[in-house]
Amino acid sequence: MPNFQESATAVASYQEKRDQPVKYLLRDGELVDYDDARLHVLSTSLKYGVGVFEGFRAYWSEDEQQLYAFRVIDHMKRLIDSMRVVEIDGPQDIEELSEQLLGLIRANGLRSNLHMRAQVFVDSKDGKPEDTGPSTVFMAAIPMGNYFGGTGLNVQISSWARLSDRSMPPRVKSIANYQNGRLALLEAKRNGYDAALLLTEGGHVAEGAGYNVFMVRQGRLCTPPATDSILEGITRDSVLHLARTELGLEVDIRPIDRTELYSADEVFVCGSAAEVNHVASVDRTAIANGQAGEITRNLQELYRQAVIGKVAADRNWATPVYAS
Ligand SMILES: Cc1ncc(COP(=O)(O)O)c(C=O)c1O
Repeated sequence: MPNFQESATAVASYQEKRDQPVKYLLRDGELVDYDDARLHVLSTSLKYGVGVFEGFRAYWSEDEQQLYAFRVIDHMKRLIDSMRVVEIDGPQDIEELSEQLLGLIRANGLRSNLHMRAQVFVDSKDGKPEDTGPSTVFMAAIPMGNYFGGTGLNVQISSWARLSDRSMPPRVKSIANYQNGRLALLEAKRNGYDAALLLTEGGHVAEGAGYNVFMVRQGRLCTPPATDSILEGITRDSVLHLARTELGLEVDIRPIDRTELYSADEVFVCGSAAEVNHVASVDRTAIANGQAGEITRNLQELYRQAVIGKVAADRNWATPVYAS
């Protein structure tokens, strides 16, 4: 078995080597060869950056010899919401989309931690920007380990503002939105940081290039509101639930100033790929002693248990992929 504690870079090369081969992807519900999942170069999606997607994970439980897919229904719901907002015609049956994804994993016989993607593109030939169809749905499930390599992140507040609901709705998981986070990440890497956080046009903390943010300050867990230019993360929602029900914490959902992060006791980011990862410094200001704080560590552990259905089992977040 591969070692899934490897770094993000190592994971990329692992995929290239395909030690555990991913034979199929899914196109409109049909299995297609991994190397044969194509989109026309003159499609509306490639010409104008029109498309929506979801990224989610599945976790292998060695004890149970079972793979659990995390919050698949909620991700498919958000995919359909995204299609509605950016006006892409596409499938509307959440259960069917979810079953297709689980079927893809089974067809590939994958039994390890996975990252999955569901993507909807407008595949009109010689497409116009306003085309809403015909759409094509691709799904992929690929082995993936830690996104950040499990260490504390040195984060830069970006000079790029997070896009806003007046221009490119951030609550939509649209491929075009990712240019914004990409610019922030490139800037951060150029300046020697691991990751970027972006502020809203109005100067409040919004989110990162692929993750939401929380801080603990004056003993209270806080995260920006859905109206402060964020993707309404499913991991954020899971963390809010775990903090309230398992740790008995009250959470403040309120605007956060940049300098509140500098004086926070704990800061962490979260997302399906990023999971729950602590922030060691913001703009070179160390958060506490640079180590993960107690609330972050508790939430990390609860999240690890929740993704395999051991915590918050009543929420039915973790779907077994294989018949037991
Ligand atoms: C911009 C952005 N914010 C937040 C998140 C976290 O969202 P989720 O927890 O639903 O994966 C993501 C993850 O894809 C993202 O791309």
